[in-house]
Amino acid sequence: MSTARGEFSSRFGFLMAATGSAVGLGNIWGFPTNAASNGGAAFLFTYLILAFVLAYPALMAELIIGRHAKANAVTALSGLASTPGTARIGAGVGFAGMVTVTLILSFYAIVSGWMLAFMTASIADIARLETASNWLTQSGTVRDALFTLIFYVLTIYIVVAGVRNGIEKWSSRLMPSLYLILIALIIYVLTLDGAMDGLRMYLVPDFSRVADPELILSAMGQAFFSLSLGVGTMLIYGSYVSKKENLPAIGGMVTLMDISVAVLAGLLILPAMTVAQLNGIEIYDAQGGLIAGPALIISVLPALFDQMGDAGILVAVAFFTLMSIASLTSSISMLEVPVSYFVEDRGVSRRKAGVLLGAATATVSLIIVWNFGLLFDWVVRLTTEFSQPLLGFFFAVFAGWVWNRNALLAEIKQGHAEAESGLFWRIWPWYIKFVCPLIILAVYIQMIF
Ligand code: TRP
Repeated sequence: MSTARGEFSSRFGFLMAATGSAVGLGNIWGFPTNAASNGGAAFLFTYLILAFVLAYPALMAELIIGRHAKANAVTALSGLASTPGTARIGAGVGFAGMVTVTLILSFYAIVSGWMLAFMTASIADIARLETASNWLTQSGTVRDALFTLIFYVLTIYIVVAGVRNGIEKWSSRLMPSLYLILIALIIYVLTLDGAMDGLRMYLVPDFSRVADPELILSAMGQAFFSLSLGVGTMLIYGSYVSKKENLPAIGGMVTLMDISVAVLAGLLILPAMTVAQLNGIEIYDAQGGLIAGPALIISVLPALFDQMGDAGILVAVAFFTLMSIASLTSSISMLEVPVSYFVEDRGVSRRKAGVLLGAATATVSLIIVWNFGLLFDWVVRLTTEFSQPLLGFFFAVFAGWVWNRNALLAEIKQGHAEAESGLFWRIWPWYIKFVCPLIILAVYIQMIF
C-alpha cells in the first residue's frame, strides 16, 4: 500500500500545508483575545516561552513519528511498541486523537461558517444588496446550518482531491494571500485614531500576571491548539514529508511562522478594538472584561467596519476572507486525520472516506448548531483543554519511552546527516522523555484542582 501513499511535492508545499493547518482561528482570534484578557505582553511572553520549550518539541515528536511510520496515528503509534499491551495503548491514543479532532472540526466548522457568512455579507454590501446582507449577518440557526454545510463542502472537496492535488495545492495558493491580507490590514488599522491604545494594551506587560496559573493554562492550551497538536494532524502531515528533508529545521520553520502570525494578529485585533471603542462601540462586557468570545468577531468588528463607510466594506471583505482562508487550510488538516486512517487501514477510497466522514462530522455540527447554548462551549473545553494536552502527553511518552531510542535517532538523521553534532540531537530526545511529559502533567494536574 505504501506505493499509493501521498507525499508533499516540495519543502514549500509541506510548509504551506503545515502552516496552513497551524495558522487558523486560534492565531487570529484566539491568541489576541487571550492576550488581551491575560495581562497583555505578560501572556505574549509566557506564550512565546511555552511555544518554544513545549509546543515545538511536541510538534517534532509528531513529525518524526509520522515520517518514520509513513502511516496514520493508529498504525504509527502501535508500530512503535514492542509489546502487545503498549501496541494496544498506541492504537487507543490514535483513535482518541481521531475522535478528538472530529469533535474539534465539528465546532470549528460552525465558527468558520460564520466567517463565510460575513464574507458573503460584505460582498453583498458591495453590490448594495441590503436585505441579503442583513440576513447574512443576523444570527440564526438556518444561516448557521447553511454556512456550516457550505464550509464542509469546501473542506471535503479539497481533502478528496488528495495530498498533493488538494491539501498542498490549496494551501500553497491560499497561505501567501493570507499573509498579504494580514499585513495590509495591520498597516491600515494602525493608521486609525485610537489604534495606539490597543497597541499599548497588547504590548505593555502586566507582569504581576506571569505566574498566574490561569494564564499558564491558557497559554499552554493556546500553544497546543495553535500548532494542531495531540490529535495526529501533524503526525499525518509528517508522514507525507520526504525522507530527504531535515525535519528539525522544517518543524522549526512551521513553529516560527505560526507564532509570527499570532503575534501579528495581535497588532490587528487589539488596535481594531480600541479604534472601535473610540467610535462609541462597547468593547467591554458586563463584568468589565474585554469582549473576547464570538461577539468580538461577529459584532464588535462588524460594527466598526460599518462605521468606516465605503472603506469599511473593503476592509470587511479583506478581514472575513482572511478568516475564511485561515479556517479552511486548518479544517482540511482535521478531516485528513480520520480520512487517512480509513483509506490506509480500512481500504476505503479517498472519495468515499472524505464524503462519509465529512457528512458524519457535519451531522455533529448540526446537532451543536441546534443546541448551541447547551453544547458549544462544552465541546470546545472538553476537546481543547482536556483531550489535547492529555493526548500530547501520550505522544511524548511514545516518542521518549516506548520507541526504541536507536530507531528514533536514525529517523532524525534521515535528511540531516550531520544531525549528531547539533543541539537538537543532544537535547531533544532527553527532553521529550522527561521534560515535556512533566510540564504537561503539571499544568494538567493544576487544571483539575
Ligand atoms: N491550529 C489551528 C488554529 O490555530 C486549528 C487546528 C487545525 C487544530 N488542526 C488542528 C487544532 C488539530 C487542534 C487539532 O486555528
